[in-house]
Amino acid sequence: MDPFFLRSLFRKKSLDHIHGEAFNEEGPKLKRTLSALDLTALGIGAIIGTGIFAVIGTAAAGGSHHLGAGPAVSLSFIITAVACGFCALCYAEFAALVPVSGSAYTYSYATLGELVAWIIGWDLVLEYAVGNIAVSIGWAAYFRQLCSGMGFEIPAWLSVDYRSAYQAAMQVADKGGEIPANLKLAYEAWQLHPTVLGIPIIFNVVAAGIVLVITWLLVIGIKESARVNNILVGLKIIILLLFLAVGFFHIKPENWSPFMPNGLQGVWTGASLIFFAFIGFDAVSTAAEECRNPGRDLPIGIIGSLAICTLFYVAIAVVLTGMQPWHQLGVPDPLAAAFTNLGMSWAAGLISLGAVIAIAAVLLVLQMGQTRIFFCMSRDGLLPKGVARVHPKYQTPYITTILTGLAVALIAGISNISEIVELTNIGTLFAFVLVNAGVIILRVTDPDRPRMFRTPFVPVFPLLGIVMCLYLMLGLPAITWKRFIIWLGIGLVVYFTYSRYRSVLARHRRSH
Ligand code: ALA
Repeated sequence: MDPFFLRSLFRKKSLDHIHGEAFNEEGPKLKRTLSALDLTALGIGAIIGTGIFAVIGTAAAGGSHHLGAGPAVSLSFIITAVACGFCALCYAEFAALVPVSGSAYTYSYATLGELVAWIIGWDLVLEYAVGNIAVSIGWAAYFRQLCSGMGFEIPAWLSVDYRSAYQAAMQVADKGGEIPANLKLAYEAWQLHPTVLGIPIIFNVVAAGIVLVITWLLVIGIKESARVNNILVGLKIIILLLFLAVGFFHIKPENWSPFMPNGLQGVWTGASLIFFAFIGFDAVSTAAEECRNPGRDLPIGIIGSLAICTLFYVAIAVVLTGMQPWHQLGVPDPLAAAFTNLGMSWAAGLISLGAVIAIAAVLLVLQMGQTRIFFCMSRDGLLPKGVARVHPKYQTPYITTILTGLAVALIAGISNISEIVELTNIGTLFAFVLVNAGVIILRVTDPDRPRMFRTPFVPVFPLLGIVMCLYLMLGLPAITWKRFIIWLGIGLVVYFTYSRYRSVLARHRRSH
């Protein structure tokens, strides 16, 4: 094979070059205003969302193709938190070393070369854009519950997807008898949906609608300021504390046994699913160009937000599984439903209101993260320049924002939340594996570069991170692996037919 070809696949952007791009004299600069506390709040804002409000139910009760963890879902949270902890240390080292936006994509361009950077950038679409599909479906469930509490019922056929409704109908037809709690809504949609010219109308308009609203906000340039974010985070924490304080008095210890109804297998698949709830701590690194003291504050923000969320998550898992038998938790809005079932609709209403606001904040962060990554890839020539076109009036990358928003909204209308969560998780875990590997590689290839934050026990910690992420990936079903491999395959075709030739680095080298 042509050695030049092989070498070109691993061409790297030098760290000095990346620094120069972000901090050179002429280029636009972002204001450095964020403190360690702001960064921690930013992390919490991106982390607490659909995962803890919705996915926890499926992780505990199980779904159509995986076993539930039962009350041991609290163990699933702990396992996942440990895996994320190792990754957070590596993210912190990189973020302090390469304090520019683009996150894992930029780090890998500097350490592992262009091909891996491309794969990561392409893969991060699964974390950000596909992740947002799941987040919007979770939002829709709570919005529906909130409206219902206020006496306004949104028809089921406008708030679930066709696939879920069809699956529900098939399962009920197969088994007969009583409809399981998690299928009730989807089954209702199937029974009551209207048809137009013989086509069944079942579309999650609520999920698609919120994505379009967020897209519009991003186009006109709303940028959640640190102050607004701090208020939203305060609200999230109050809602979760309310859940814990009220729920605590309705725990029935008998609900905790059997603790592991599906053994370790259930805990494992539960952990693979609930990983979704932790996604977002890595988003702190995208604010690298805006913080006062990146070397010190980024690690605090990344690790601090992860630690605080873990404490909340484990406490909520313990209380929730104590309030209700685990097999009844597989509903779209388990935290609110736990109170509705106790006849405490006021508490269910407050939780739903809080969830609707909290989850919308996650949508905003992820959707913006996606456009920033596309922006960096386009700046490097790996995506068409048009992707990064900035709106003349609003100064936002409107083309990528609108295209991403339309795609996410459409798919959110027809998708099943569990399948999308699984796809997001496999993609994000893969990115984490590469970030861990990057830290080890850079310690070997560039050992003397001053590091403001050093991951302890390299290479042991990053290796443990890699092993744990792979373990969580293996807990995901075969169909998710297939979809993941197909997605990466499409990415490779795009790279070898387009991006490789358009890369700024390649053109730069050719002209020298
Ligand atoms: N961790 C984020 C959530 O749970 C993605 O919504």
